[in-house]
Amino acid sequence: MPRIKAVNHVAVVVEDMEKSLAFWRDALGMELRGLRDVPAEKSQVAFLPLSGAEVELVMPTSGDSGIAKYLAKRGAGMHHLCLEVDDIDGMLAQLKSKGVRLINEEPRIAVDGKKYAFIHPEAAGGVLVELYQV
Ligand code: CO
Repeated sequence: MPRIKAVNHVAVVVEDMEKSLAFWRDALGMELRGLRDVPAEKSQVAFLPLSGAEVELVMPTSGDSGIAKYLAKRGAGMHHLCLEVDDIDGMLAQLKSKGVRLINEEPRIAVDGKKYAFIHPEAAGGVLVELYQV
């Protein structure tokens, strides 16, 4: 049986990275480990690690990106919760067998080689859930 192992990250969509860092880094005092552009997603992502998990701040860098459309439609705020799984193929098969609606039927491969897939928020009480196999 595939097993959920941990919360990997929580992603927050932001309009203004500097303003967001003024809160998360400067006011809360969380460590900023990295700030990088993700050209494939037309976005900039800040990583703030916290005891094995991390908060990710995502800002669109182009008006036609998926994140920009999300921001225009729903505004800034929580975007998704990412759960680490030991066997993403097994988990996707298990979810399909239970009729859970998926956004990605097959795992996708991130630039760093990790496999990931999104579960449709309709299946998770309005929460967009990402599965990650490290
Ligand atoms: Co994510």
